[in-house]
Amino acid sequence: MRGNSVYQAPRGTQDLLPNEVKYWRYVEDTATRVAERFGYQLIRTPIFEETSLFVRAVGESTDIVSKEMYTFEDKGGDSLTLRPEDTAPVLRAYLEHGFASRTQPVKLYYIGSMYRYDRPQAGRLREFHQFGCEAVGDGDPAVDAEAILVAWQLYQELGLTNLSLQLNSIGCPNCRPAYLERLVDHFTKHKVGLCHDCQRRLQMNPLRLLDCKVEGCQPAILAAPSSADNLCDECAEHFEQLRKLLAAFELPVVLNPRLVRGLDYYTRTVFEVWPATVGAQSALGGGGRYDGLMEQLGGKPTPGIGFATGLERIIINIKDQGIVPPEVGRPFLYVAYMGEDAKLPAFKLAGEARRLGIPCVSTLSSRSLKAQMKQANNLGAPFAFILGEQEIAEGTVTVRNMSESRQWQEPQANALEQLLQAKG
Ligand code: HAM
Repeated sequence: MRGNSVYQAPRGTQDLLPNEVKYWRYVEDTATRVAERFGYQLIRTPIFEETSLFVRAVGESTDIVSKEMYTFEDKGGDSLTLRPEDTAPVLRAYLEHGFASRTQPVKLYYIGSMYRYDRPQAGRLREFHQFGCEAVGDGDPAVDAEAILVAWQLYQELGLTNLSLQLNSIGCPNCRPAYLERLVDHFTKHKVGLCHDCQRRLQMNPLRLLDCKVEGCQPAILAAPSSADNLCDECAEHFEQLRKLLAAFELPVVLNPRLVRGLDYYTRTVFEVWPATVGAQSALGGGGRYDGLMEQLGGKPTPGIGFATGLERIIINIKDQGIVPPEVGRPFLYVAYMGEDAKLPAFKLAGEARRLGIPCVSTLSSRSLKAQMKQANNLGAPFAFILGEQEIAEGTVTVRNMSESRQWQEPQANALEQLLQAKG
């Protein structure tokens, strides 16, 4: 038991406490600004969906579907799942609301909580938050480049440095079967050295072998044929065009033949953004193209690409890199009073300040002026108004500049006007 509470937040979840808000605001505001600057529009999908949506979209053999979903039956007997990701729900919404008739690509972004029954550790939670973008309805490599640039610009505007953009192409239904055959051939030759999971992957999902972190599997992985060398002409051309477009932006692109993603819906482009110090386990964000997904969900063939980035992981990196976001939630004004007769006028003055748009906290129960000034300091209010008998009689207020410990008397209307100007 921590503190005085019998209950704790469930394992792998965390409370967002007031002193952390500035980090979240900073990231969410920056993400919103960047996404909207690229013409992405906000979408919010439900926290839970029909279970089969994720099984179909993400893939039965993936860790997410086979081990990590929060699935439950509701009182009506329907199987529902807390969303482990938002790409499938966004595509479901695209289909349900007939977005195919809009100008393509339809570009949507989201910010919200996702749920995976993962083993909790730093940057890995069971309830976590993603910012993500999906551009649906256009297969041009420029759409891929733009989605990557949204991610990149977000990290840049947040001030994060030392990141790399890991890029790969994993082909399409035309070229992938032949590549997978080569891959299975290769790993079958090295089967004895492979870990238990990889032996299973060899049957179920050979591409995922490339992503294994187990030491003993590394020699076989390093020697494996790469997907980028086994693309059909169309996929090779698409990949080349994408790299040309990205080259114009001087991104630190690392062509990574072992980059495969943990969800089955990807085709062609896949990418992740990695901090310098850690490997793929701690990717800041990732995404890719999913040209077959809409059809899998019952729609017409519709190309799409997107990415998502974990807000908790971004915040860990922001703190590690010493980035200090602007303060939020601080009052600009603290209204103090002396004597019961001043209580109502002080209450009204605080109301007037808020009406004018000045964030203001007022004393609500009587305490000494010293205690009130201490509270104003603790809250970080740069100014205080003090109302006493004399101020009320004269229609004035004592204005105190908290950091300079300087104070003066002013007619109330002037004082509010001065504060509005100082607030800017
Ligand atoms: P994902 O790679 O599974 O992709 O997740 C994207 C990001 O979410 C990760 O890079 C990481 O920052 C964060 N994340 C994932 N799992 C956790 C966790 N357990 N705890 C904390 N953060 C986590 C997707 O979800 C795809 N829907 C991305 C996408 C969008 N692809 C195309 N469009």
